[in-house]
Amino acid sequence: MNLKAAYFAMRLCLILLFLLPFGRATLPLVINTWEFQHAADAAWRALQAGGSVMDAVEKGCSRCEAEQCDGSVGFGGHPDERGETTLDAMIMNGNTMEVGAVGDLRRIKNAISVARAVMEHTEHTLLVGESASQFAENMGFTAEDLTTNNSISVFTQWLKDNCQPNNRKNVSPDPSKYCGPYKPGPTLKHRRRREIDIHAHDTIGMVVIGRDGQIAAGTSTNGANYKVPGRVGDSPIAGAGSYVESAAGGAAATGNGDVMMRFLPSYLAVELMRIGTEPSTACETAISRIKRHNPGFFGAIICANSTGHYGAACNKIPGFTRFPFVVYNSQTNTPLLQSVDCF
Ligand SMILES: *[C@@H]1O[C@H](CO)[C@@H](O)[C@H](O)[C@H]1NC(C)=O
Ligand SMILES: *[C@@H]1O[C@H](CO)[C@@H](O)[C@H](O)[C@H]1NC(C)=O
Repeated sequence: MNLKAAYFAMRLCLILLFLLPFGRATLPLVINTWEFQHAADAAWRALQAGGSVMDAVEKGCSRCEAEQCDGSVGFGGHPDERGETTLDAMIMNGNTMEVGAVGDLRRIKNAISVARAVMEHTEHTLLVGESASQFAENMGFTAEDLTTNNSISVFTQWLKDNCQPNNRKNVSPDPSKYCGPYKPGPTLKHRRRREIDIHAHDTIGMVVIGRDGQIAAGTSTNGANYKVPGRVGDSPIAGAGSYVESAAGGAAATGNGDVMMRFLPSYLAVELMRIGTEPSTACETAISRIKRHNPGFFGAIICANSTGHYGAACNKIPGFTRFPFVVYNSQTNTPLLQSVDCF
């Protein structure tokens, strides 16, 4: 081949490369919410090492729990009204439709692995609170304090700001102290306007599709800042935090879980992909359904169908216009950061 022909061939290759559609499908596929590239990398490595899609989801989410991704996954983040960090997580197997989940888990760092233990060592789907922690300890997980200097200082600052009961409504505190206990009554006059803090709602949500088409999904989070103790969000709820069926696809959501869990957005997206809706449209419809009733909610979702095509969608709220997510397949060849315009 002469130089001119080689140059022409190179140009042609470049043009073809640009024509590749967004969301081009190859299997296996790892996709997860936010900029959590290390999580996608850990999941990919688990697959390369011969692990199952369940192993990949567990490894990927565990990585975020250990790294305290954005302070909103794992220990030391988002203290509740008592200053304690508690964790929510779930994992789902799209071949068997088994789910394991934990909510309001105390003192155990590796929530996604406890969720998997619930699936593999009980007949149950969801364990919560102190009893979930006892189960975890019996299964050999280490109990340790989830508090860090950072979570203490976040909590201390909140107390200094008179607690602004961010997650309560129509309550009055004990008149002698601002910080509760709260009783039904008129809302505090001096209560500061509730800020929309995007990163108070980050969750790692991950979908992994194996070469053989098996799909698994999982989530892990430490929930919302200053939550009312006992609060469990959308993350450990099948169909809300994530959902998967190998024949149809998988989805995982992040955002204001208290609102999102009422709409089962992951379930809706998977059902739409089952009837052939393309992943980005399925994601958009799941978000629109919530938006219809809650125009100002913050939330986003990732979707992948059974052939490995993927998409994402998010609700546009002031100060937030694009939602980042990470994709790792043989096409990206790396945990590639992507993003979608919110609508
Ligand atoms: C946390 O704070 C304590 C006391 O202020 C200090 O001794 C300790 O080194 C801090 N730990 C970390 C991990 O920064
Ligand atoms: C997955 O989505 C892509 C892109 O929309 C579509 O071409 C493909 O047929 C879908 N796969 C299935 C199994 O529905």
